[in-house]
Amino acid sequence: GEPGRLEGQRVLVTAGGTVERIDPVRYITNDSSGKMGYAIAEEAVRMGAKVTLVSGPSALPVPCGVEIVRIQSALDMREAVLSRLEASHLIVKAAAVADYRPAVVAEQKIKKKSDSLTLDLIKNPDILQEIGTLKKHQFVVGFAAETEALDEHAMDKLSRKNCDLIVGNDVSQEGAGFSGDTNVVRIYDRNGLVEALPIQSKKDVARRLLELAADRMPTAARN
Ligand code: PMT
Repeated sequence: GEPGRLEGQRVLVTAGGTVERIDPVRYITNDSSGKMGYAIAEEAVRMGAKVTLVSGPSALPVPCGVEIVRIQSALDMREAVLSRLEASHLIVKAAAVADYRPAVVAEQKIKKKSDSLTLDLIKNPDILQEIGTLKKHQFVVGFAAETEALDEHAMDKLSRKNCDLIVGNDVSQEGAGFSGDTNVVRIYDRNGLVEALPIQSKKDVARRLLELAADRMPTAARN
């Protein structure tokens, strides 16, 4: 990304996995390390943006110049994101949000009793979908983590969640997806595939993604 390309733009990035409490000592989460989202935040700063990063628990260093908002659950993330929606020009949702959470959070540590235990889960709100419904001037980039039929599922998420761009991530591919330093992605807009990026660092993926977003944002600087 060219420095200055996102000058004056307020960018909101989500990263990492959410933590859904079961009881005071147990929770449900996923393999997201935050690397993809942190790379996007860092690159957006380099391109001149004012960046807020809403992050699930992550041990990664916060990139220089990034405002960090730390959250635990999907409900926390929803609150943090929606309260900043109006003030944002670009929203990039790289976080792996839990689709379900325990229906009740036990106040005390759950005791070991019977041979089997059933945990009741209820659906979390889909934050990206809500953004898609509420957005006015905002440019919205979603992610789609898939293990099959990437083109089809990514395009379906783009239209259902009303995104401007979606980053399709076949997480079953070598060097792609959760935890590693590289990714392999296919980026789509409303009309279909825009670009297929071969394996490269998450930093380079972030840079190319933000260039494609800036190209399409009415408020971003032209190059
Ligand atoms: O953090 P890393 O270790 O670097 O890994 C990067 C990554 C694999 C997490 C990242 O590249 C990625 O693919 N992120 C999206 C993961 C995901 O949960 O995808 P999804 O297909 O389940 O969700 C689709 C989109 O809806 C995502 O933008 C997600 O943030 C959003 N969503 C999903 C559920 C929900 N309740 N609310 C949401 O906003």
